[in-house]
Amino acid sequence: MRTHWCGELRAEHIGSAVTVTGWVHRRRDHGGVIFLDLRDREGLIQVVLHPQEQPEAYRIAEAVRSEYVLGISGVVRARIAGAENPNLPTGEVEIAANSIEIFARAQTPPFQIEDRIEVKEEIRLKYRYIDLRRPEMQRGLKMRHEIIKAIRDYFDAEEFVEVETPMLNKSTPEGARDYLVPSRLQPGNFFALQQSPQLFKQLLMVSGLDRYYQIVRCFRDEDPRADRQPDFTQLDMEVSFADEAVVRHLSEQMFVAVMRRALGVEISTPFPQMSYAEAMDVYGSDKPDLRFGMPMVELTKVFAGTAVQMFQRALDSGGTVKGLRVSGGASFSRKDLEALVGVARTFGAAGMAWISYGPDGTTGPLTKALSEEEVSGVKEVSGALAGDTVLIVCDALRVAQRSLGEVRLALADKLNLRPELEPTDPEAWKFLWVIDAPMVEWNPIQNRWDPTHHPFTAPHDADVDLIETDPGAVRSRSYDAVLNGWEVAGGSIRIHDPDLQRKVFGLIGIGREKAERMFGWFVDAYNYGAPPHGGIAAGIDRLVALIAGKDSIREVMAFPKSSAMTDLMTGAPDVVDQSLLDDLHIKVVAQPGE
Ligand code: AMO
Repeated sequence: MRTHWCGELRAEHIGSAVTVTGWVHRRRDHGGVIFLDLRDREGLIQVVLHPQEQPEAYRIAEAVRSEYVLGISGVVRARIAGAENPNLPTGEVEIAANSIEIFARAQTPPFQIEDRIEVKEEIRLKYRYIDLRRPEMQRGLKMRHEIIKAIRDYFDAEEFVEVETPMLNKSTPEGARDYLVPSRLQPGNFFALQQSPQLFKQLLMVSGLDRYYQIVRCFRDEDPRADRQPDFTQLDMEVSFADEAVVRHLSEQMFVAVMRRALGVEISTPFPQMSYAEAMDVYGSDKPDLRFGMPMVELTKVFAGTAVQMFQRALDSGGTVKGLRVSGGASFSRKDLEALVGVARTFGAAGMAWISYGPDGTTGPLTKALSEEEVSGVKEVSGALAGDTVLIVCDALRVAQRSLGEVRLALADKLNLRPELEPTDPEAWKFLWVIDAPMVEWNPIQNRWDPTHHPFTAPHDADVDLIETDPGAVRSRSYDAVLNGWEVAGGSIRIHDPDLQRKVFGLIGIGREKAERMFGWFVDAYNYGAPPHGGIAAGIDRLVALIAGKDSIREVMAFPKSSAMTDLMTGAPDVVDQSLLDDLHIKVVAQPGE
């Protein structure tokens, strides 16, 4: 129906007869002349109608309202001198319309089709099809398309084969809760929607495919967060006869291709590497944001003989003291400090103390109880200068690390520590590999060892003997890619020996019989010749959001769920007809809304 996009017309088209289609962005009536800005996905073009020159088209234009869908034919001409709009790519020209066809009328939209609007996200999600008319949303979707295309081109060139794996699977504990799908033909039985194609991609290696990838939808019933959706997209890949260096190199080159295609920026490789232990110890996070420094320090030794009872108790039960030096922190108000204590508490710390080395001497809640040696020891170890504050958490190791790590992030926000760089500046992108996560972590609530990644991750050869004696010390052959403080990819070299796989199941509390029932079909494959293999999966939504400069992945997904994990447009999840439940042999106990 069109000869050109609205947004593509330029001075070179002057004199051409064109037909464009799109939505009325704005209609302006200038005493006898009507201007229509027509919008399509490529941009806006100004259309002019004079009652004398085009009486029929003018009459139709008089009835046109915002968001009507039109087809307009006319001739491109230069705008009169002084009426050019340098802010619009089509701003030198306009269309003198000969004819207008109204394809559809429209009600007044619930919000303006403009970038940077102040509208509640609930309204935007309810009318997502209108929200997606806004240029910044369309830019996000196009960028997503470009990024996925760059990924496909890259893996194609590296001789990977894209294979689809089933969505309806057997429920296996992979970390998050499963979404279940009841079986009609097997009453009482359920499929689980795939959390990731983990086991199938490993079986594809056993099948000899050697290099697999897939752009794949995954489903996880997790608590909501800005960087999480219940269904999301991964770039998933697996490669045989490869060690971690190969997988990391392939992944880095994929990120290079993506950043080049999306932003024209050349990032440098190889990415720096940091062990999980160091990341937790220095940044209190397994995904440290390296756009700013502020490392944590270890203060346990300084407080070894402390008289502070709270510290004594925590240290007696194996706790740790961690500190964070805040440059210039002595000028913080009591309220500022209390807010930071609140952050530490939210993330599990029983409390947070501080020592300020201010102009009026040393201050802080514990100063009276602390010895001279402790005050000077903290200063020395942390490198605090006059005017600084050292924040201190004494707690179980992970609690101390994580809570102070979150305080570090809160301080980065408060003090504006992340430099504001253009996205085209390679320095704006701090990639990092976090490697060698512990194979398992103790879960004190369930009283068991849980895999840090998943149970198919191989331990380091040197640590295999520790599986029985000191499981918490076993390092896994894992690698997570972190970008500006977001985990954008995670992967590992896998176990490919059936005996070792069974041993790991045993360690995480999946006994022989249960392992057989849940994973027998999988481990069995290893009896038929499994190559050494490893892989990785990257979160496409997170990658696109970061590259597009958004702080939520919802901004780069066409139809995301709300922060309450519901679809505000369709109303899903919803009750279903009784007959459907009867077919599925399901009796609902809860009342809707319960
Ligand atoms: P993992 O669980 O680390 O690894 O997931 C890989 C990447 O997927 C993204 N991601 C998510 N994105 C949006 N919403 C979510 N709910 C969500 N959950 C995860 C993250 C993450 O880094 N099978 C393994 C991969 C492997 O070992 O090869 C896996 O799925 O960016």
